[in-house]
Amino acid sequence: MRAVVIEQGEVIVIEHEDPSPGPGEVIVAVTAAGVNAADLLQRRGLYPAPAGAPADIPGLELAGIVAELGEGVSGIELGSRVMAVVAGGGQAERCAVHASHLLAVPDSVSDLAAGGFPEAFSTAHDAVVTRGRLEAGMRLLVTGAAGGVGSAAVQIGRALGAEVIASVRDPARRAAVEALGASRAVNPEASSLSGGLLSALAAEARILVIGVGGGARLELNLLELMAVRASIAGATLRARSTAEKALVAEGVQRDLLGLLASGALEVPILETFALEDVAAAYERFAAGSKLGKIILGL
Ligand SMILES: NC(=O)c1ccc[n+]([C@@H]2O[C@H](COP(=O)([O-])OP(=O)(O)OC[C@H]3O[C@@H](n4cnc5c(N)ncnc54)[C@H](OP(=O)(O)O)[C@@H]3O)[C@@H](O)[C@H]2O)c1
Repeated sequence: MRAVVIEQGEVIVIEHEDPSPGPGEVIVAVTAAGVNAADLLQRRGLYPAPAGAPADIPGLELAGIVAELGEGVSGIELGSRVMAVVAGGGQAERCAVHASHLLAVPDSVSDLAAGGFPEAFSTAHDAVVTRGRLEAGMRLLVTGAAGGVGSAAVQIGRALGAEVIASVRDPARRAAVEALGASRAVNPEASSLSGGLLSALAAEARILVIGVGGGARLELNLLELMAVRASIAGATLRARSTAEKALVAEGVQRDLLGLLASGALEVPILETFALEDVAAAYERFAAGSKLGKIILGL
């Protein structure tokens, strides 16, 4: 198969040995694979794949067709359209995926959009719904709201009936983020944890940290946190166990797939690239100032 690999800090496409399905896994013939911030870190040697995931092929999400069933897999039809978060190996023509991590792609959703759905929407769902326990009528602040995870969180918040405030660094992207469901887009300075955010928290507020691209260290006034009984939690998806990832997929299936099918959630696509042009796709991601996902079409 053709696959993206990282060689000396560059992404290139090579002819690679096909994966074979382990127990409980299926092989997906990939039609589209999203590019994510973690891929760029992995390219720089800073975020190696966890044990059990292909060490040499990047790619945390994919869409495609079920092409082969591993031992013990039942209830999944060969040829069905699926998408999934994977711990690596998504940017290749074939990828082994645990059957419990598969999401069915709604008929109304294109392959390219499906290839950019799983990682951002699963991360946002885990943070906003599972950990944040967002409900209708609450207020949700999304930082980095023009990004892949951010634009997913904005849409999930709106779909659940929350009031969504979006912090967006690039003023040129603010109107588009409002169109996705934010009632207001604001400047990041005013909404950062080290800025004015703590003093604006509601009682029992939950702060969920899922990315530290802007820096992992800051000074906090814990008194302000105590005063409103607020909590701070962090989460990552990639390092979780197979069973924990199945629970994430179950939550997305239950809460989001109907909304995706009806068009209440969409995957904004900034640009698509052929697999051979993967280096250009990574460069576009790294350039920032974007709204929407960058997708490799196979
Ligand atoms: N915890 C997990 O499991 C998990 C899963 C997926 C992603 N992540 C992390 O979540 C973050 C977002 O991922 P993504 O795929 O959505 O990336 P993305 O598409 O690049 O989005 C990042 C957004 O944050 C903005 N931003 C970057 N640096 C900023 C700063 N210093 N101040 C204010 N805004 C800033 C960017 O704005 P510009 O366009 O202006 O640069 C962009 O809108 C990344 O850190 C990623 O590693 C974590």
